Parts: sequence; C-alpha cells; structure tokens
Amino acid sequence: MVFTQLLFLLAGILGLSQVIAASRDCVVRPLGQGKDDTDQVEAAIAQCGHSGTTTFQPGTYNITRKMTWDLHSAKVDLHGFLSFIPDIEFWLNPDNTFRVVFIQSQASWFVITGSDFEIDAHNTGGVQGNGQVWWDFFTNHTREDGDGRPIAFTLNNVTNGVVRNFRIESQPFWCNTVSHSRNVVYDGMYCNASNSNPKFFGQNIVPNTDGINTYVSDNVTLLNWDITCGDDCLAVKGNTTNLFVRNVTCHGGNGIAFGSLGQYANLSDIVENVHMEDLKMVRIDKNIQPNMGNAVYFKTWTGSVNGQPPTGGGGGTGRVHNVTIQNVVYDQVNEPLHMYQTNGGHSQDLPSTLMYSDLTFSNWSGTFLTNTVVDIECSPAVGCDDITFNNFTFTSLSAGALKFICKNVENLTGLNATCN
Ligand SMILES: *[C@@H]1O[C@H](CO)[C@@H](O)[C@H](O)[C@H]1NC(C)=O
Ligand SMILES: *[C@@H]1O[C@H](CO)[C@@H](O)[C@H](O)[C@H]1NC(C)=O
Ligand SMILES: *[C@@H]1O[C@H](CO)[C@@H](O)[C@H](O)[C@H]1NC(C)=O
Ligand SMILES: *[C@@H]1O[C@H](CO)[C@@H](O)[C@H](O)[C@H]1NC(C)=O
Ligand SMILES: *[C@@H]1O[C@H](CO)[C@@H](O)[C@H](O)[C@H]1NC(C)=O
Ligand SMILES: *[C@@H]1O[C@H](CO)[C@@H](O)[C@H](O)[C@H]1NC(C)=O
Ligand SMILES: *[C@@H]1O[C@H](CO)[C@@H](O)[C@H](O)[C@H]1NC(C)=O
Ligand SMILES: *[C@@H]1O[C@H](CO)[C@@H](O)[C@H](O)[C@H]1NC(C)=O
Ligand SMILES: *[C@@H]1O[C@H](CO)[C@@H](O)[C@H](O)[C@H]1NC(C)=O
Ligand SMILES: *[C@@H]1O[C@H](CO)[C@@H](O)[C@H](O)[C@H]1NC(C)=O
Ligand SMILES: *[C@@H]1O[C@H](CO)[C@@H](O)[C@H](O)[C@H]1NC(C)=O
Ligand SMILES: *[C@@H]1O[C@H](CO)[C@@H](O)[C@H](O)[C@H]1NC(C)=O
Repeated sequence: MVFTQLLFLLAGILGLSQVIAASRDCVVRPLGQGKDDTDQVEAAIAQCGHSGTTTFQPGTYNITRKMTWDLHSAKVDLHGFLSFIPDIEFWLNPDNTFRVVFIQSQASWFVITGSDFEIDAHNTGGVQGNGQVWWDFFTNHTREDGDGRPIAFTLNNVTNGVVRNFRIESQPFWCNTVSHSRNVVYDGMYCNASNSNPKFFGQNIVPNTDGINTYVSDNVTLLNWDITCGDDCLAVKGNTTNLFVRNVTCHGGNGIAFGSLGQYANLSDIVENVHMEDLKMVRIDKNIQPNMGNAVYFKTWTGSVNGQPPTGGGGGTGRVHNVTIQNVVYDQVNEPLHMYQTNGGHSQDLPSTLMYSDLTFSNWSGTFLTNTVVDIECSPAVGCDDITFNNFTFTSLSAGALKFICKNVENLTGLNATCN
C-alpha cells in the first residue's frame, strides 16, 4: 500500500506516466469456436484499462452483448477482431445497445470512453460487424434514422485518445462516431461495407454505412482512412470544431458531407476551422456499389420544423465557417461540389438561417458524369459569403454545356466560369 502510494507520488512528480502504464499487463486469447469471449474481454479491460496494457492475441473474439471500455492512461493492442454476433432481433431490442450518441438517438454496441489512451489494432484487428445479414434483412424491413441499428465503433466522452491501424469489416450501419470528445487522433482506419449477395447486385443495400460521423467534438484528427460505403464517407455534424483530415480514400457512396446540420430546432450546429487534404473519391464496380455522388457536399435542413428527430426535424441555427479542402482527386462522381439547404424540407418552408462562409477549395481535379460542375444553393435568408476556388479543374464525361449554379452567394472567386 505504502509502496504503491510512493510509486504514484514519484510518478506524479517526475511525470513518468510510463511507470504507471507499465504497472499492469493483461493478455487475452480467443476461446475458440462456439465460445463466448465477452466475459474475458471485459475482465481484461476492467483489470488493465486503467494504467495498464491489454493485449489481444490474433483471432476472433465472439462478442454477444453491448460493451464499454473505459480507458485511462492505458494501451490496448488489439491484434484480432471483436466479432459482434449477427443476431439482428437481439441488437434491435433497445435494452441491448447504448444510446450515448445524442444525434438521432443512434444506438451503439461498443463504446470507448476515457482519457490518455491508445488503441492499436496493427492493421490485423478491429471490429467484425457481420453486416451482410443486416443489409439482407433491411432489404424488406423499414429502415430509419435512430431505429436501433448499432454504430460499429463509438468514441464518446474521450479526451486525448488515439486509435491506430484499426479495421472495421462489414459495418451494419455507421462505421465510426466520435461525440462529446476532444483531442482525438485516428491514424489508419479501414471500413468496408460491400454487399456480396448476388440477389442485390446493382443496388445500394448498404445505406447509412457512413465512415464516420463527428459530433460535438473539438480537435479531432483523421489520418489515412480507407472507406468503402453506401453513404457519407465522412459526415461532419454539429459542433465539430478544429477538425483536421489528411489522406482519405472513399470508394463509392455519397462522398464527404458537412451535415446534415440544423436538424434540432433548439440547438445550433457550429462547424468551424476544418482543414481537409489529400482526398480521393473512387467509383467502384456498380454491382457492388452503384453510387458515387459528390466529392464534397454540404447540407442543412430548412428553417421550418418538419416532424421531430430522429427521422424528422429542421429549424436549427448555426454556421459552417473557415473550411479548407485541398488536393482532391475524384473519379466519375456525379457532381464534384454540391451545397444545399433544403434537406428534409418542402417548397413552402422557411429558409434555413444556418450560414456557410469562408470556404476554400484548392487543387481539385477529376472526372464527373453530369454537366453540373458546382451547384451552390445557399439559403435566401442568410446567403453564403466568401467562397474561394484555386486550381479547381474538372472533366465532364457527358456531352453538353457545363453548368455552374450559384444561388445567394456573395464574394465567390477563382472559379474559371461565371456562376449563376
Ligand atoms: C458466440 O457465443 C454464443 C453464446 O455462447 C454461441 O451461441 C455462438 O455459437 C458463438 N459464436 C461463435 C461464432 O463462436
Ligand atoms: C466523462 O468522463 C469523465 C471522466 O473521464 C467523467 O468524469 C464524466 O462524468 C463523463 N461525463 C459524462 C457525461 O459521462
Ligand atoms: C426478406 O429478404 C430476405 C433476404 O433476401 C429473404 O430471405 C426473405 O425471404 C425475405 N422475406 C420476405 C417476407 O420477403
Ligand atoms: C489537439 O490534439 C492533439 C492530439 O491529441 C494534441 O497534441 C494537441 O495539443 C491538441 N491541441 C489543442 C489546442 O488542445
Ligand atoms: C471490400 O470488401 C470487398 C469484399 O470483401 C473486397 O472485394 C474489396 O476489395 C474490399 N475493398 C477494399 C478497398 O479493400
Ligand atoms: C494513405 O492511407 C493509406 C491507408 O488508407 C495508406 O496505405 C497510404 O500509405 C497513405 N498514404 C500516405 C502518403 O501516407
Ligand atoms: C433539444 O430537443 C431535443 C428533442 O428534439 C431534446 O431531446 C433535447 O433534450 C433538447 N436539448 C436541449 C438542450 O434543450
Ligand atoms: C453547439 O455549441 C453552441 C455554443 O456553444 C451551443 O449553444 C449548442 O447547443 C451546441 N450544439 C450542439 C448540437 O451541441
Ligand atoms: C481557420 O482554421 C484553421 C484550421 O483549419 C486554423 O488554423 C485557422 O486559425 C482558422 N482561421 C481563423 C481566422 O480562425
Ligand atoms: C492543381 O491540382 C492538382 C490536383 O488536383 C495538382 O496535381 C496540381 O499540382 C495542382 N497545380 C498547382 C499549380 O498547384
Ligand atoms: C464581400 O467582400 C467585401 C470585401 O471583402 C466586403 O466588403 C463585403 O462586405 C462582402 N460581402 C458580404 C455580403 O459579406
Ligand atoms: C478555363 O478552363 C478552360 C477549360 O478547362 C481552359 O481552356 C481555359 O484556359 C481556362 N481559362 C483560364 C483563364 O484559366
């Protein structure tokens, strides 16, 4: 007891967090086919998740219920996959998931909280989502936001967390979410939602498999991401500030989204100080994923309230300000850049009061399938201000005159065409 206190005191004085971090070590091995690993996984994290190191040996860990890892001054080496049982009715029972992600009341089966930790999955481990059975199931069941389909990997209430070389196979729904967190680095993230059931070839049966949704989080860094999905590759949602993104490849889906914003009439969504660079959008085999929407797009709800979240909403205030997106290469997207403020709305709605300003798009090039190069439709209530293009080039793969659409935009510069 005395010795331990002395050790902690010394460590505190000398700033030797390593002394503490090295004080506990847990090693876990998969129990094998037919066995349930959840108890031993939770026990290891309970024992070594505070000031310790937990090592998961390679292999598959059978996870049969919701799980939170509370990590403080801890390291996790995850060499294998946490495989979440493909029992849809079980997970859809609200008691069997967490609802820590406020927006759209989304469900999570695996939540990380805490501070000063690193999870390294060494490109050989992560989460196995067993998504195919989910995607098949929802081809003939109603699918809505907040319906309980679980997020594969959630970071909530994290400070100073690092996730490295992590793989998520077959996410049933959103792949990642970071919410109510700050100072988080994801370096190396792979998500892949690819239908392999020939019955559904040529259809997007993997909607809502977003690479990540960022929400109410400050100073998040995303490096070296590789996302295959049928929805938003990245979705920057309300109160994401100081976001840095570098080297992201999106295979299929909608592209990189800012939004949807303004869904909650009682909340403002502030997105500020975002820098993204080295982005690549690639259209893939249309049998696997028919969509490749935009390189980047921005969307808000209207100024009217149309129903309640999670499925309805609107009327929220806020702004998107100081965003730079540079070095973008896109391949056969529908439209390189789209901005609109009418998500979930009707023609007679009040216009959104959420304003886009100080946006810079530099060094873009690639091919697109339509004639519309940019479609910037800002709210008549507030307009957009200061949109700058530098070295913004494009090749249309369809015949006909190119269109540059701008509505309610002030101070747009650098586009090699008249935008109207
Ligand atoms: C996972 O554990 C459950 C509960 O014990 C068991 O029924 C199931 O067969 C196991 N799954 C695998 C793939 O081992
Ligand atoms: C967030 O985590 C801290 C500890 O890191 C804890 O004290 C606090 O209660 C948590 N907040 C919420 C809302 O869970
Ligand atoms: C729903 O789709 C699944 C997967 O394709 C199929 O096995 C099942 O028979 C369908 N059920 C109904 C009621 O159509
Ligand atoms: C942002 O997060 C990084 C990585 O955790 C950290 O090194 C940096 O100090 C943070 N910046 C601020 C202003 O807190
Ligand atoms: C995604 O998974 C599919 C099916 O397993 C595979 O064919 C494809 O190569 C994977 N994509 C990437 C980018 O690894
Ligand atoms: C970009 O990220 C991919 C993984 O998604 C990685 O293989 C590649 O080396 C990274 N490129 C650079 C220049 O870091
Ligand atoms: C905002 O409204 C939502 C319902 O739309 C409610 O759940 C939430 O508690 C409200 N938040 C605040 C801060 O009033
Ligand atoms: C975003 O931050 C603002 C100002 O701090 C706050 O009023 C608003 O409720 C926050 N919005 C969300 C979605 O948390
Ligand atoms: C704009 O955002 C960048 C980070 O992307 C930041 O470095 C810069 O200080 C911000 N500019 C202003 C005026 O706040
Ligand atoms: C223009 O952008 C492309 C990438 O889209 C890049 O390869 C090229 O170097 C840029 N040119 C200049 C002058 O920056
Ligand atoms: C457009 O930019 C000019 C010069 O910076 C500025 O004076 C003007 O107020 C801006 N327009 C709007 C609507 O902000
Ligand atoms: C504008 O774009 C066209 C076609 O890409 C090109 O031929 C022309 O030189 C460009 N003009 C300027 C001023 O950059």
